[in-house]
Amino acid sequence: MFHLEEPLPAPPMLSDGEFAQLRRFIHQAAGIAMSPGKRSLIQSRLAKRLRQLRLNSYAAYWRMIADPANALERQYAINLLSTNETYFFREPEHFAWLRQLAARRQGGGELRLWSAACSTGEEAYTIAMILAETLGLQGLWRVYATDINTRVTAFARRAVYPQAKASRTPPDLWRRYLLRGRAEYAGMVKVAPELARKVSFSNLNLLHAAHFQHSRFDVIFLRNMLIYFDEATKLRVLLALCDKLREGGHLIIGHSESIRHLELPLTQEAPSRYRLDSRFADGRIDEHRRSDC
Ligand SMILES: C[S@@+](CC[C@H](N)C(=O)[O-])C[C@H]1O[C@@H](n2cnc3c(N)ncnc32)[C@H](O)[C@@H]1O
Repeated sequence: MFHLEEPLPAPPMLSDGEFAQLRRFIHQAAGIAMSPGKRSLIQSRLAKRLRQLRLNSYAAYWRMIADPANALERQYAINLLSTNETYFFREPEHFAWLRQLAARRQGGGELRLWSAACSTGEEAYTIAMILAETLGLQGLWRVYATDINTRVTAFARRAVYPQAKASRTPPDLWRRYLLRGRAEYAGMVKVAPELARKVSFSNLNLLHAAHFQHSRFDVIFLRNMLIYFDEATKLRVLLALCDKLREGGHLIIGHSESIRHLELPLTQEAPSRYRLDSRFADGRIDEHRRSDC
């Protein structure tokens, strides 16, 4: 038996009270500060979900995600409300610098990099291409990539992208590390498996970065993420990330972001590149926090 699907109900309007509830939710859950101008964005991103769940108000959806027993739907809401724009070789100056850093490296154990809000993974794979070029695919290096959004990390692990996302990849790197799709994958590229193996993806809310159970990193990329945080959240997250840097380690932020006004144990080396002050290396960030009080 076949039957026509019932038409989905029209999405309800988002009231002032509901907008305030949802803004509070995403701020508490992910640190994302949505300005009053983001009202239609929230409404349009959640409208389809409300229709799927056949809910007739945003308040009903808010009650659902506020229920502690409903962690899965809460994660679904976070996935819908986070912005995941990214592509290969975005802000390429950072990768030119990384190439020099890796080329200067002599010994010293594994080079460890962290793409700390990796979205669908293009940034992490770009980092991996640069390290494969300078240190070799068998070299002692690894890229760790995390994001709060479970949908994007699942996508990143598949490592299959529309070609347009890779359009800024230099042709020689494209030839070595991206496989062109055929038939049903026409118009897509896949990251070469030997490169993809050097990158691990996991889910991490940066509000809990202190609990990220990894040894310290040489370079942390935190690009195009801070724009979504308010000042207090920026400071909290950045202090936790400084604590994850090795002595002499670097933090890279997006070109449009600024952290110069924040009291952090970092020295600026270039407009969006910072280096951990040696006084605060290896777990001495707490001293910095105390000296602030
Ligand atoms: C615009 S993307 C940036 C991607 C990449 N770093 C770049 O520059 O192209 C921002 C990412 O931050 C993630 N994000 C937002 N809040 C987060 C949080 N509290 N913890 C971890 N990731 C978060 C989003 O899910 C999104 O994938």
